[in-house]
Amino acid sequence: MAPVNDMDMLAHRPAAAQPAAAASVRQRIEVRDITKVFPLHGEDLVAVEKVSFSIREGEFVALLGPSGCGKSTILNMIAGLITITGGAAYLDGRSVAYGKVDPQVGYVFQRDTVFPWRTVRRNIGYGLELSRLAKAEREARVLEVIRQAGLKGFEDAYPLALSGGMRQRVALMRTLIMQPQILLMDEPFGALDTHTKLEMHKFLLEIWEHERQTVLFVTHDLSEALTLSDRIILLSARPGRLKEDFEVPFPRPRDAIRLRESREYSELFAKVWHSLGDEFAKTKAE
Ligand SMILES: Nc1ncnc2c1ncn2[C@@H]1O[C@H](COP(=O)(O)OP(=O)(O)O)[C@@H](O)[C@H]1O
Ligand SMILES: [Mg+2]
Repeated sequence: MAPVNDMDMLAHRPAAAQPAAAASVRQRIEVRDITKVFPLHGEDLVAVEKVSFSIREGEFVALLGPSGCGKSTILNMIAGLITITGGAAYLDGRSVAYGKVDPQVGYVFQRDTVFPWRTVRRNIGYGLELSRLAKAEREARVLEVIRQAGLKGFEDAYPLALSGGMRQRVALMRTLIMQPQILLMDEPFGALDTHTKLEMHKFLLEIWEHERQTVLFVTHDLSEALTLSDRIILLSARPGRLKEDFEVPFPRPRDAIRLRESREYSELFAKVWHSLGDEFAKTKAE
């Protein structure tokens, strides 16, 4: 007979999320028929319609689709930042409740969200200040992270004195220092130039290959999705529906630059582009 605790856990999970071999594969993020309707000028705007997918522990998944197709909306529902109109989101099998941010989740926003009035050291240490760690330990961890981010020498600099890439590294490290097991990232490198973006890919991959967080990474940039992820979930133009789910089988560790010169990369790029291109065309036609 199954222990009572297991039954309790199952009670929180949707029936469809219980395949026979589920015990060995831990699904950390699941959405089931998730739907979002925004009221707009007295009408209903369907932003996301019945999207379902799940993400295994340690998997790096890109959520790809044209601008306005509902990517941020899905991420915000998973994070509990906005209400869910229909369906549900689950983190470790527990249903996400609006307004209750799970402490194991780290969220990196689209725009760099560093505080201009705080130095690098105090930006990165922000979350830890709210924790119960002793001051000496906090400071040691901040310095270690600053070193990891290649920001040594800039501890007391203000964000204005940093380049865009450095600022985004500060924003990223401010989240990562809290050691989240689940990372939700919303086009975190969207505002960076191509060269800096590639550097950030290299930086993020190095960290992820070490920490293996479960990542859901929102982007409209196919190259970025192919470089970083294990799997690409492609959404249709608005209302966002799940269009296709592509495996990205390139070996790891990956060299963000070399990868782009490989034949496998070009082939998969062409395949996904074909599908994504149709959705870009629909967005333009609107
Ligand atoms: N708070 C809101 N109120 C009304 N409409 C919204 C709101 N947030 C997003 N939308 C609309 O929902 C759609 C999806 O938005 P979003 O999730 O931001 O797209 P993406 O992140 O893929 O670019 C867009 O048409 C957008 O205008
Ligand atoms: Mg967005």
